[in-house]
Amino acid sequence: MKKLYFGSNLKMYKGVRETEKYLKKLAENTQNISREEIELFIIPSYTALPAAVRCSDCNDIVIGAQNMCWEDQGQFTGEISPCMLEELGVKLVMIGHSERRHVFGESDAEENKKVRSALAHGFRTLLCVGETAEEKEYGISAEILRKQLKIGFYGVDPKESKNIWVAYEPVWSIGVNGVPATSEYAQRMHMEIKKVLFEIFGNQAEKIPVLYGGSVNPENADQLIVQSAIDGLFVGRSAWNADEFDKLIRSAVYTYKQYW
Ligand code: 13P
Repeated sequence: MKKLYFGSNLKMYKGVRETEKYLKKLAENTQNISREEIELFIIPSYTALPAAVRCSDCNDIVIGAQNMCWEDQGQFTGEISPCMLEELGVKLVMIGHSERRHVFGESDAEENKKVRSALAHGFRTLLCVGETAEEKEYGISAEILRKQLKIGFYGVDPKESKNIWVAYEPVWSIGVNGVPATSEYAQRMHMEIKKVLFEIFGNQAEKIPVLYGGSVNPENADQLIVQSAIDGLFVGRSAWNADEFDKLIRSAVYTYKQYW
């Protein structure tokens, strides 16, 4: 069976204590799910990162940062350097989340600088891509994904593929006003993404998991995970209760095994 990826971005929710409680509960709940079968990751707020990394019961959960600056140090007030994340023991960095691109105006070229810096520092690097509702309406979703991937990974050596993850998160599907993508649509976009990754990285692209995110919930998770081009689920709201997330993961793994 291929390895399935499950993770959650905690966004600007949960402070230090809440994050610790959540991680401990999630670790306890999921301890008997084989890590040969799944990779589980949680991306908390910056302030909760030190506690999350130190959480001794949570060794089977990869901890990631929500963003980072491309420079190691300098006059970048309010930014967090890759060296600072390294110092904490963070293993994963997410780049280009839809909210970074659309609320904070980050460009593809900026995401590219961050991706290159994150890879140079040895982080597992999760690049998020996705089209807006307007771009979907114009029928240019595939073109937008191609642009975000080609620029996002510009200048990246195919040898780095082992540290690259991609999340497809259509902007229109994310958050309280989001509409989840149908599994057919997500599968189609994942195939486009895999095609472009193959163009960029050649055979090394096979190593890159592509996760779907955007209003994943207990009702649609099973249908999404059985799509051949979907390697994992990147969940927001439906993952923020450790019991609910555990149930969602178990059901998805069970369904995947029945299907394949
Ligand atoms: P929701 O699952 O709440 O739509 O959020 C998805 C997301 O943004 C994950 O990064």
